[in-house]
Amino acid sequence: MAGFDYRQGSLFCEDVDLATVAAEVGTPCYVYSGSLLREAYEQLQKALEPLPGGLICYALKANASLALCKILVSLGCGADVVSGGELYRALKIGFPAERIVFAGVGKTEQEIRFAINANVRLLNIESMPELELVDRTAQKLGTKARIALRVNPGVKTDTHPYVATGSKGSKFGLDLAEILPAYQHAVSLSGIQVTGLHFHLGSQITSTEPYVEALAKVVPLVQKLRGQGIPIDELDVGGGLGISYDGEETLTPEQWLAAMRDGIRRSGCKVIIEPGRVLVGSAGTLVTKVLYLKNAGAKNFLVVDTGMNDLLRPSLYRAYHQIWPLRRRKAPSILADVVGPICESADFLAQGLEIARPRLGEMLAVMNTGAYAISMSSNYNGRPRPAEVLVSGDRYAVIKRRETFEDMMANELVPDLVLEVCRGSERACREDLT
Ligand code: LLP
Repeated sequence: MAGFDYRQGSLFCEDVDLATVAAEVGTPCYVYSGSLLREAYEQLQKALEPLPGGLICYALKANASLALCKILVSLGCGADVVSGGELYRALKIGFPAERIVFAGVGKTEQEIRFAINANVRLLNIESMPELELVDRTAQKLGTKARIALRVNPGVKTDTHPYVATGSKGSKFGLDLAEILPAYQHAVSLSGIQVTGLHFHLGSQITSTEPYVEALAKVVPLVQKLRGQGIPIDELDVGGGLGISYDGEETLTPEQWLAAMRDGIRRSGCKVIIEPGRVLVGSAGTLVTKVLYLKNAGAKNFLVVDTGMNDLLRPSLYRAYHQIWPLRRRKAPSILADVVGPICESADFLAQGLEIARPRLGEMLAVMNTGAYAISMSSNYNGRPRPAEVLVSGDRYAVIKRRETFEDMMANELVPDLVLEVCRGSERACREDLT
C-alpha cells in the first residue's frame, strides 16, 4: 500500500517512522496519511470528470474528523450527512450547504427543520410519512425543501448483509413500484421542490454489476418522470465503492464510474456520488502495543492494548484487516488470535494470524482503518478513545487528543433523585457520588 511501507525494516507512514509516533503519542493511536487522503480524493474527482455535473459528497459517517474533513473541504468536496449532529459538524467544518446532502431513514422534525434552515442541497427522503413531514415543516418555515426520493432498486450485492442496503426487504428507501405515485404526490405538495432521485446500494462493494443493474431499473424511471414534467435533474448514486483489505487488486474508481457512465448520461441528470470508505479507508492505520502473549487450549493469543471499542469491524462483520509489525524481525512465526482487553469473546482484531513471534511491548499496525473505525468507537469497558494523528511528509501532528478519564465522565450528573433512591443511606451516597 502506497503511503505505508517498510524502510529498512521499519514501518513508515509517508516519511514518518510509526514507532516515533507511538513513542511520543502513546498507543493505541490512529495515524492518517494526508497524502493518501488527498490522492484518493483527486483520483475520484478525475474519474468523475467525464460525467455531467459530478459532485462528490463525502459520507461523514466513515470518519468525521475535523482535520481530515478540512482537507476535503479545501479540495472542493461536499458532504453526505445522516443526522443533525453530522449536519452541524459539516457546516462548522465549512462544507458549503449547497454541497451537503442529507439521508437517513429516521430524520426527526428538528433535524428536518435544521436542514431546511441551513438550505442544504438535497434531503434524501426514505418514506411517505417523512415526505409529509418535510412538506409540513417547509411550509411552516415559508419555503420549499429540495428533495430526492431514495429508491430501493432491489439488487443483490456481494457484500456483508449488514452493509447491504439496496436489496429487497431492506429498511432503506422506497420500493421501485411505489416510486412513480410517490413522485406524482411529491410534486403536488407546496412545501416540496423535487430535484433529484437517490439510491445507495450498500458498502464495500467490489463489482460493477449491482450499479449497472440498479441504473438499468432506475434510468427508465427517471426518463418517465421527466416525460411527465417531474423535474429530476440530479441522480445521486450513493457510495459503496470498496477498498482492498487483503492487498489484492480491487475495483477502481475509474472502473466504477465508467460502468455507470452510460446510464447516468441516458438519465439526463447531473450526478452526485457519496463515497466514504474509498476516500479514507486506506489512509489510516491503528497502532497498538502487544501487552501479553498467552496460550490457552492450544491456541495462542496476542493480547494488545486496543480492542473492539476502538475498532469494531472485525467483531461486528468478521471483517479482515491486515496486521503488520512496526519493526520487521526475523523470528519463528506463530499462529495467533489478536485480541483486545475487552470482556467479550467477540473482542478480536484478527483470528489465526501468522506473525513472527512478537516480543512483549512490540508495536503492531492494524491496516486500512481510516474508515468506520474511530467513527464506530465507544468507551465500552471504561476505555478512553485513542489519540489521532495526521502525517504529512516528514511531519506529524495530533488532530485529536486521547480522551481522558475525566472526558468520559464529563456529561454525567447526580441529581437529588439519586439520593431519593439511596434513601436510608443518603450520607454514604452523597459522599460517594458527589
Ligand atoms: N451514502 C449512504 C446513504 C450510506 O448509507 C453510506 C454508508 C454511504 C453513502 C457511504 O458508503 P461507503 O462509500 O463508505 O461504502 N460500518 C460499515 C459500513 C456501513 C456503511 C453505511 N452507509 C463498515 O464498517 O463496513
